[in-house]
Amino acid sequence: MRIAIGSDHAGFEEKALLVDYLLELGHDVVDRGPDDDGRVDYPDFAFPMAEAVAAGSYERGIAICGTGVGVSICCNKVAGVRCALCGDVLSASLTRRHNDSNVLAMGGRIIGVETAKEITRVWLATGFEGGRHSGRIAASRPTL
Ligand code: RB5
Repeated sequence: MRIAIGSDHAGFEEKALLVDYLLELGHDVVDRGPDDDGRVDYPDFAFPMAEAVAAGSYERGIAICGTGVGVSICCNKVAGVRCALCGDVLSASLTRRHNDSNVLAMGGRIIGVETAKEITRVWLATGFEGGRHSGRIAASRPTL
């Protein structure tokens, strides 16, 4: 799968470890930055990554900041992006099955790397159930 991944300084270390893990799993992963752990502003990385997913350049996106909250807020402001902030594997599975989430947000200061890897693996491997969930997604449109 073609995947974009981005972070801020607080998610940098976990992002770097996840890039290696995604390559191990055989995915085509593009690191959208930053390139080091110097302080940055998460919108500068979350928005371009999410916009690239919405444009179809990537099938999925992964965004990591300290809590995962900042990047998830940004990503969900991009039309066509359904970003899920996950801190556990069940949520990762359910958000794929019910929300067809196309961006995964995680908190580098909240969960350890082994948890992040397992969340990522399950999120990538789980399909959308469709059915009653499709209408709910269609109704979850921007109001402005
Ligand atoms: C950076 O200090 C931190 O605010 C950021 O990574 C994120 O947690 C914001 O939601």
